[in-house]
Amino acid sequence: PTPIVLDVDTGVDDACALLLAATHPALDLRAVTCVGGNAPVKDVVRNTLTVLEAVGRADVAVAGGAARPLLEHPQDARHVHGDDGMGDLGWPTPALLPDGRHAVELLRDVCLAAAAAGERVTIVPTAPMTNIALLLRTYPAVADGIADIVFMGGAAQVGNATASAEFNVFHDPEAAAIALDAGADLSIPVTMYGLDVFYDPVVTREQAAELVAVGGRTGAELAGRLIEFQCDRFGRDASTIGDAGAVCAVIDPDGLTTEVLPIRVELAGQFSRGRTIVDRRDWSGDLSHDPHGEPPVRVRVALGVDHERYVGIWLETIRTRAGG
Ligand code: BDR
Ligand code: CA
Repeated sequence: PTPIVLDVDTGVDDACALLLAATHPALDLRAVTCVGGNAPVKDVVRNTLTVLEAVGRADVAVAGGAARPLLEHPQDARHVHGDDGMGDLGWPTPALLPDGRHAVELLRDVCLAAAAAGERVTIVPTAPMTNIALLLRTYPAVADGIADIVFMGGAAQVGNATASAEFNVFHDPEAAAIALDAGADLSIPVTMYGLDVFYDPVVTREQAAELVAVGGRTGAELAGRLIEFQCDRFGRDASTIGDAGAVCAVIDPDGLTTEVLPIRVELAGQFSRGRTIVDRRDWSGDLSHDPHGEPPVRVRVALGVDHERYVGIWLETIRTRAGG
């Protein structure tokens, strides 16, 4: 199985991603690190432990990390994810406890241990990239233990936090810029699973109800209730699996249509701060006359997704492996 670490701000759809990453047989989930984003980091840690407890993964280390962005003040998204950050389901508080290390130290230890064993880990940030930026700048040697970074964030087209910017990048634009820059500097391949594909894989209310019916406080019941929460919140009959799509992209990369494109993170704009400016000009392969000086980083950008395939992976895994 592919060694993988998730960096999350759980988060309703981060929970959907965790449920998949913790149970899919093609993945070896080595750790989960938490960052403030959708909710304050202490709530993110509790929510993450709740998810892992529901699927019996007490063996996976969970660590809390950055409580706030590098520069900005935190602006959580509890209006989207509920007061507790995970759908206000009234789920019991988990008995599991977090690891004593800071998220950055846990990430470092996992990556260096992988490198020492001749392995490489795939890092999947589904949250603001504060922990990732701190990791790559503080401990660049971790690159020897990283296969690639597949992050949920950004958009080639429209944003969601603002008309320009996607939430994870908007929440900590400097961290996103540092992570992409450090990734390029350290020769780590980066894939952007952004808003151009994020909303496409959807689960219907009927499918969610089948998962809820499994009951028993299992991962399946939790997954179904999270999708129902999102359907209710947005008044829809179906809801995206969101961040879980980035985990599907690790399991089944061929489900994505991608292009390697130059990207810059907008750090200065009044109404465009946090936008990922994806250069789709015909001549973006030759930027020798680019007036901006500092070259952009090149990232594999997801521009299309086989959404039925990804929903199939998610549903099948939750049904067969998260039902207790
Ligand atoms: C992203 O922001 C959060 O609301 C979701 O968990 C996802 O990671 C979407 O913009
Ligand atoms: Ca998230």
